[in-house]
Amino acid sequence: MKKIIVAIDGYSGTGKSSTAKEVARQLDYIYVDSGAMYRAVTYYLLHHKVDISNQSEVERHLDYIQLQFKKVDEQNILFMNGESMDTRIRTMEVNQLVSEVSTLITVRRELVKQQKKIGEERGIVMDGRDIGTVVFTDAELKVFMVASLDVRGKRRKLELQEKNIDIPLEEVMSNLKKRDKIDSERTEGPLKKAPDALEIDTSDLTFDQQVTKIVDQARKEINAS
Ligand code: DC
Repeated sequence: MKKIIVAIDGYSGTGKSSTAKEVARQLDYIYVDSGAMYRAVTYYLLHHKVDISNQSEVERHLDYIQLQFKKVDEQNILFMNGESMDTRIRTMEVNQLVSEVSTLITVRRELVKQQKKIGEERGIVMDGRDIGTVVFTDAELKVFMVASLDVRGKRRKLELQEKNIDIPLEEVMSNLKKRDKIDSERTEGPLKKAPDALEIDTSDLTFDQQVTKIVDQARKEINAS
């Protein structure tokens, strides 16, 4: 059977990652979290106290970062230099710096190159910000997920509460707004909808509804020859 690439882009808090993961499971495809790669690089730069405004310094360190996805308990987990990046890249410290690191051209070029390589065999669902516009412009299915800021803020607050982190809704929303701005306004690979992407507004959809919309469309693409 034909294998395709499903590229899912969109704003933070639209449910991209959880949706992409479930779509991959239903299609029996591999899920690739491209945001985890930007987070892992950010984690590395933080821990090596690299001055991110120094382009050549960042470039030098990139040579020491080896990223690899490995299957652990049915999940595709990112490893950096042999160390699992599962939980340590989801901290406030990383959250606060990742958007800025994602604006660095050297970082983007290196990660885009690696992401293209991961997709060579097709049969993947990758989520991020520039997957349909830069990484896989030839993806058979491109999805762009949006939701109102209010809904996204409430979802993110719940997620944080589950980790026992209590942050006022206003602060969560202003953090989302700030990231939207940085993600959409950067010159290299800005967050934007590809002209041929299917836009899904998840504000009033249940999780199952948004997954089904994408899986149905993917099956149509897989069966069309
Ligand atoms: O999806 P996420 O929140 O884990 O992504 C973390 C950051 O990485 C986000 O601020 C934007 C950036 N990112 C990006 O610039 N390009 C991608 N393809 C994926 C993520």
